Amino acid sequence: MNQRSAADSGFPTTRMRRLRYNAGVRALIRETTLAPANLILPLFVRPGKNIKQPIGSMPGQFQLSLDQLAKEAKEAEQLGIAGVILFGIPAEKDLQGSDSYCDQGIVQQAVRTVKEAAPKLLVLTDVCFCEYTSHGHCGLLEERNGQQDVANDPTLALLGKQAVSHAQAGADMVAPSGMMDGMVGAIRYALDHAGFSHLPLMSYAAKYSSAFYGPFRDAAESAPQFGDRRTYQMDPAAAAGQALREVELDLREGADMIMVKPALAYLDIIRDVRENFPGVPLAAYNVSGEYSLVKAAAANGWVDERTLALEMLTAIKRAGASIILTYWAKDVARWLS
Ligand code: PBG
Repeated sequence: MNQRSAADSGFPTTRMRRLRYNAGVRALIRETTLAPANLILPLFVRPGKNIKQPIGSMPGQFQLSLDQLAKEAKEAEQLGIAGVILFGIPAEKDLQGSDSYCDQGIVQQAVRTVKEAAPKLLVLTDVCFCEYTSHGHCGLLEERNGQQDVANDPTLALLGKQAVSHAQAGADMVAPSGMMDGMVGAIRYALDHAGFSHLPLMSYAAKYSSAFYGPFRDAAESAPQFGDRRTYQMDPAAAAGQALREVELDLREGADMIMVKPALAYLDIIRDVRENFPGVPLAAYNVSGEYSLVKAAAANGWVDERTLALEMLTAIKRAGASIILTYWAKDVARWLS
């Protein structure tokens, strides 16, 4: 039989475009899909009544009082979003961040409010001190070599106390973000001893010191009053393997889920963690700066927000994150429906 290769005919044998001509074929071979069930919406809560204060640097995001938080939570629940992560802005800040572990603290009240308004939503709490301390750092301060810096071990006991108070308020999961050495172990120990051995912990394991957090610090009023966070958050230029060490340590200390943060500029890290720890649920935080950049460009008519946001989130998922924390969570649920 006269077997002629397609190449002899002068035509390309393989045509990648055959996979693209038909919208049905494109959909058929798609492997990365976004779903509200894998998204977590960050929310900012402040004291007061009937407050929905726009956050200047994050169009579409607000500081909410408890009554408004309840509405927002109901909406998120109806849209099928997995959960919310709560950030509190207390009435008073002090050196120890004591509002963060007080039963009547802003975040404890917020947890109870969301659980009551939207019982199907998972309520995560960010376990950290920067929103609660007068100096804006993520723990207690101490002086070392004439410089103020965050004291690691004294902060651990307080982190445990904070996590337990979140659990007592009804949180479904705690998410420590302060990058203190031993924080996961200390929190796990405190939770277990307080009767919360069943409560899962998502660790911000690979959290980089990043300018992408700029708008968040405006939203949460948590900018450090002096210095920066480079003695505890990771250096973006460090060996990528450092992220794997952080993840490994947190898993050994009892973390159930792992987070990489920020997301977009760290897709390589997401991929590395996915490949090295394939069985561990992996989250990525699509942070404030990633959101605000798109919002600003879209407001100028330079990009299409919806297309770009979906493309970014798809890339984060394709890199290996199955869970995404994103300010677009509600929009995505609407866009996809
Ligand atoms: C710390 C915390 C921060 C973010 C989440 N948790 C800020 C920081 O480390 O300075 C940033 C999230 C974002 O930028 O969207 N409590």
